[in-house]
Amino acid sequence: MGANLGRFITFEGGEGSGKSTQINMLADHLRSLPSMAQVDVVTTREPGGTPMAESIRELLVTGEPNSMEAKTELLLVMAARVEHVQKLINPVLQKGGWVLCDRFMDSTLAYQGYGRGMSIEHLLMLNQWALSGLNPDLTIFLKIDPIIGLARTKPRGTNSEHSGEAEDRFEQTGAEFHKLVYDGFCKLSQNNKERIRSIDANQSIDNVQKSIWEVVRSAFPNL
Ligand code: TMP
Repeated sequence: MGANLGRFITFEGGEGSGKSTQINMLADHLRSLPSMAQVDVVTTREPGGTPMAESIRELLVTGEPNSMEAKTELLLVMAARVEHVQKLINPVLQKGGWVLCDRFMDSTLAYQGYGRGMSIEHLLMLNQWALSGLNPDLTIFLKIDPIIGLARTKPRGTNSEHSGEAEDRFEQTGAEFHKLVYDGFCKLSQNNKERIRSIDANQSIDNVQKSIWEVVRSAFPNL
């Protein structure tokens, strides 16, 4: 994290794992703590988080599942992330704020790496080059069977505030792809046990939040 004073927490997982609900609940909890009274808590998401990155998101999440080359997809994800990190994440961290981000580099490793079959080594090099290796302090992996997760997304339909089009290009990609992504997240969490903490997301919303809170409190004992 270099000279950053703030804290960077990311949420990861497959489709329908409940990340956005949980991230907002955690942000509210953090903001209510006396020890955080002077600290900015910012929630954001990837791809997205700045106007330009949100425009790139639209290209990525709409349209036919096979409308884009895997390399194009990777480069768009990374372009959005560079904008997001430089214009939003780094400035908040440098001022001592906390950033809670819905997806980050582990999604690229899981979706483009394990899911699309691109080299993990190359993706890590790209991360190093594009982001100077910025890594989260803590990553919460919301673990849910990919088939159950996908079924949960069905009633969501059109959910983009920006396009009015259904954000379902990835969701429409076959179950086999989502199984590879899930296995990828599991491998990543096993190989990075200190940073990535996996939580059973197939519990009630309140119980998932309780588990997240235990992890966050033990990771940051000064809270
Ligand atoms: P969301 O619906 O969870 O906001 O995510 C949008 C989609 O973008 C999701 O299906 C996963 C995909 N994605 C990648 O493929 N690679 C990435 O690096 C990121 C951040 C997202």
